[in-house]
Amino acid sequence: MNHQIGFIGGGNMAQAIITGLLNSGRSSTDILVSDPNPVCRNVLSAMGVSCSKQSGPVIAQADLIVLAVKPQIMDTVLAELSPSLQATQIIISIAAGITIGSIRQQLDNAPNAIVRVMPNTPALIGQGISALASDLPLDGTTKNATQEIFNACGKALWVGSEDMMDAVTAVSGSGPAYFFLMIENLINTGVRLGLAPEVARELVVQTAKGAAGMVEVSNVGPDELRQRVTSPGGTTEAALGVFDDGDFADLVDRALVAARDRAGELSKDAP
Ligand SMILES: NC(=O)c1ccc[n+]([C@@H]2O[C@H](COP(=O)([O-])OP(=O)(O)OC[C@H]3O[C@@H](n4cnc5c(N)ncnc54)[C@H](OP(=O)(O)O)[C@@H]3O)[C@@H](O)[C@H]2O)c1
Repeated sequence: MNHQIGFIGGGNMAQAIITGLLNSGRSSTDILVSDPNPVCRNVLSAMGVSCSKQSGPVIAQADLIVLAVKPQIMDTVLAELSPSLQATQIIISIAAGITIGSIRQQLDNAPNAIVRVMPNTPALIGQGISALASDLPLDGTTKNATQEIFNACGKALWVGSEDMMDAVTAVSGSGPAYFFLMIENLINTGVRLGLAPEVARELVVQTAKGAAGMVEVSNVGPDELRQRVTSPGGTTEAALGVFDDGDFADLVDRALVAARDRAGELSKDAP
């Protein structure tokens, strides 16, 4: 029998994950959601998923409970969950900045498996990457059941420890915005150089997809791929020379360190 997957919070992220689960063949009868927002419940009910206003049915029936509320709601949700938690239930939090330690503490130091996950926005189109971590060694069944949920909206991988979550946030959590910035600027300059906006957009988007695809399937690294398209004295070399003059590598390094440090600060300030 399949696990029952319960979501507390049925907003954007939960809907993205549930869409992925249904598309990957999971039955809607395996999924339960609680959300006070009637709009969210209507969307999810239309997908065939059982929805409730209160979290009680999810807490009572789910084997895996995904906490998909905003971080500031987490205290309320954990207070509802704590008295009824069963020892075999797996708790999965996608709330940014909330540590496993604080969740465990609010669950009266329950011995349950607790997994912290950092997904990213491309999950909304089934192309996300989620990083998973736990504070306890987990058995294979628990790890697989958790990872399957996030594989359904892209890819999912375990990072060695929760300490890595701030770095994950800097790389893949905030990462889509870095690529949006690059894409935005490439399109803008393409237009300034005379291309029609829709032509510039298509050229840039397909180039970004193609470059990522080459990195994904290639047996050499992105540095080697870059060198292979950089003929001496050619156009790519002219452009890359300008990036080098602006110390692009250092700029990226400093940007990610700033994001990593900010993630750490937000985590300390989290409720
Ligand atoms: N969006 C992202 O790209 C992303 C990436 C990584 C991590 N996350 C994390 O994912 C979590 C959810 O984000 P989201 O973008 O999906 O937020 P969202 O769209 O606002 O969804 C949260 C839902 O929870 C509902 N809710 C409020 N109180 C509740 C309660 N007591 N019980 C059950 N549901 C309740 C909200 O209803 P109301 O609207 O009525 O308040 C809302 O429908 C956040 O913690 C965020 O940090 C998001």
